[in-house]
Amino acid sequence: MAEQKSSWVLMVTAQTPTNIAVIKYWGKRDETLILPINDSISVTLDPSHLCTTTTVAVSPQFTHDRMWLNAKEISLSGGRYQNCLREIRSRASDVEDEKKGIKIAKEDWDNLHFHIASYNNFPTAAGLASSAAGFACLVYSLAKLMNVKEDSGQLSAIARQGSGSACRSLYGGFVKWIMGKDDKGADSIAVQLVDENHWDELVILIAVVSSRQKETSSTSGMRETVETSPLVLHRAKEVVPKRVIEMEEAIKSRDFPAFARLTCSDSNQFHAVCLDTSPPIFYMNDTSHRIISCVEKWNRSEGTPQVAYTFDAGPNAVLIARNRKTAALLLQRLLFYFPPQSDADLSSYIVGDKSILKDAGIQDLKDVEALPPPPEIKDNIPTQKYKGDVSYFICTRPGRGPVLLTDESQALLNPETGLPK
Ligand code: DP6
Repeated sequence: MAEQKSSWVLMVTAQTPTNIAVIKYWGKRDETLILPINDSISVTLDPSHLCTTTTVAVSPQFTHDRMWLNAKEISLSGGRYQNCLREIRSRASDVEDEKKGIKIAKEDWDNLHFHIASYNNFPTAAGLASSAAGFACLVYSLAKLMNVKEDSGQLSAIARQGSGSACRSLYGGFVKWIMGKDDKGADSIAVQLVDENHWDELVILIAVVSSRQKETSSTSGMRETVETSPLVLHRAKEVVPKRVIEMEEAIKSRDFPAFARLTCSDSNQFHAVCLDTSPPIFYMNDTSHRIISCVEKWNRSEGTPQVAYTFDAGPNAVLIARNRKTAALLLQRLLFYFPPQSDADLSSYIVGDKSILKDAGIQDLKDVEALPPPPEIKDNIPTQKYKGDVSYFICTRPGRGPVLLTDESQALLNPETGLPK
């Protein structure tokens, strides 16, 4: 290593969004490289409401790679972390920071260690995909630190080896993960279909559903599906290829009815192949089913879809409304059926873009209690309410891809010691 102070710490901080699939990835053809059995398409969520921030640091003082997730030290010995670290290290270039007087030659990286601190701005316990944003952020920030010259597509193929859905978090807007054909996975990468400004009318409401049940992880769930479900092959070979073409067209032309039809059908088929797995996997619960039927009834009564729903490997509903006006009407319906507990504070029941409350004409709990039943409900059916069945709602929108945070005050590691602040 070049002549220099031995006590330096060089670091980079980045922020990466999470994403929700509208055409689902479910099933691998290679477990280690994480190669899928079909293409998938997702929408990136606004990182101001849901994101991971990661600081990566390198220093000659560090004796081994270490990582802290939400301020708790975790092990990096797992295969997925090791694969991402190895792939990114092998692509490192020379780095020079003249101001700090630091010079790292390409070959020095093999003998240097990292400290990594990562933080999610949403509760991990909410069961929202944190691994997608997490691995995307890890790969993106390390690539910046090590002056990796690869483009986002090539970085997506590395993030994919951390968690499949992570490859789609390297872009904003709508993103397609191309399954690829290569045995080594070189062509299994994410590409951006359109950026976040293309369809900026869309509003996304996430219902974080209370659940006591321990869910099957995506990794083991999809393995069991591939091993036992006769339906999943039909889905991957016959259904998804056609749907992906139609979905790309719907997104490009901002055709909301087609987008909603495809999104809902694909979510339902994903849960159908889970049910077709032996033993069956249940990710949705009664609350999820009630939300589906509320949206389906409303969409049918309007004659054209107002809202699309999609559910991942858990009971939370992700609802995509065609515009703000529809999102406000949706929120009124959701609050009618799922009011907060009587002692709850409305501002912690609706988080993210809280201005949606004003659009829905709701200021306090009294306004929630005064909401009339949705007009599409037939008068002769008594309406039941499900207080407490939703923990809270997040209001968000399509968002941008990863960014570097250059302000050192946003770093999660101390610039002197390289330890968590
Ligand atoms: C239902 O990406 O979490 O969210 O690749 O094993 O880490 P691994 O799985 P993961 O699976 C995501 C499954 C899904 C659908 C999707 O995001 O496409």
